[in-house]
Amino acid sequence: MNKRLLFLSLAQASLLLWGIPFPAQAGEQATFQPPSDSEIPSGPFGDLVRKGELVFTQTGTYAKKYVGNDLTCESCHLDRGRKPYAAPLWGAYVSYPRFRTKNNKVSRLGERIQGCFRFSMNGTAPPLDSETIRSLVAYSFWMSRGAPVGVKLAGQGMYRMSPPARKPDPGRGKTVYAARCALCHGADGLGTTSGHDVAFPPVWGPRSYNMGAGLAKVGKLAGFVKMNMPLSKGDTLSDQEAWDVAAYVDSQPRPADPRKSR
Ligand code: HEC
Ligand code: HEC
Repeated sequence: MNKRLLFLSLAQASLLLWGIPFPAQAGEQATFQPPSDSEIPSGPFGDLVRKGELVFTQTGTYAKKYVGNDLTCESCHLDRGRKPYAAPLWGAYVSYPRFRTKNNKVSRLGERIQGCFRFSMNGTAPPLDSETIRSLVAYSFWMSRGAPVGVKLAGQGMYRMSPPARKPDPGRGKTVYAARCALCHGADGLGTTSGHDVAFPPVWGPRSYNMGAGLAKVGKLAGFVKMNMPLSKGDTLSDQEAWDVAAYVDSQPRPADPRKSR
């Protein structure tokens, strides 16, 4: 995250810095603490875990042929897959195999990750036995060390919103977007780049997630935004603002669902 400060305008940087010591989010229970990077062991297992972390944070570099947009896994699974309510890897590892209504079958973790490549990364699924999937599973396994299995963990998955008081409205959402999001993601939603580096990822348009992705569902995006955006100032929008801005972002153009287009 700090490398990002180099790319920022003064306004963006001050916004980020102002946000950094933000206190724990309201109503949040104590969440599982994953081990720190310095605890990754040496040897072949540790090497695979470290490889998984590189794929996770620099997906376009380390898994280039499977990626079709400007996002990384960390664009949504914040803080290298550690942040509660941003579908953290420690919560994921202990809840697979799991039944999913998306395809009506019991999925393994590797298959779930393949789904994020196809839809969230607008790319193609790496084979289950590829180093790409194996390293991401190893990274998830390592991060879940000591996490209980078979119970619901606080902060697992994305935050589930209560139904909105008023029907989510893209028009009101546009105003929220201009005030709270455009500085980083751009008024045109296409993100901000600095040279070849993506400083802030696109939230719509051809280089963002496709229509089949989890965040293309307004409720899922609202829950993500509520707890995580503006970056480092999660839980500062009202529920209605989160619903409205999600309705606005998801009403904008993005790549088609690959299951529906050929
Ligand atoms: C555009 C946002 C986005 C990107 C990019 C993304 N994901 Fe996801 N991912 C999601 C959403 C949304 C979910 C569903 C979480 C839920 O339903 O609670 C999810 C779920 C998951 C899960 C299961 C989590 C759970 O608790 O069940 C894993 C594991 C995962 N993603 C891994 C990855 C990996 C690895 C990458 C990079 C190759 C990636 N994701 C890229 C949005 C994204
Ligand atoms: C201070 C800058 C900043 C602001 C303001 C901000 N974001 Fe983000 N946002 C980010 C960054 C950086 C990431 C990627 C996180 C990472 O890679 O670590 C991100 C990720 C996202 C993502 C997932 C990835 C993608 O591009 O689709 C969505 C969706 C999103 N933001 C929506 C919003 C919305 C909606 C708002 C306004 C309520 C907002 N953001 C405000 C910096 C910001």
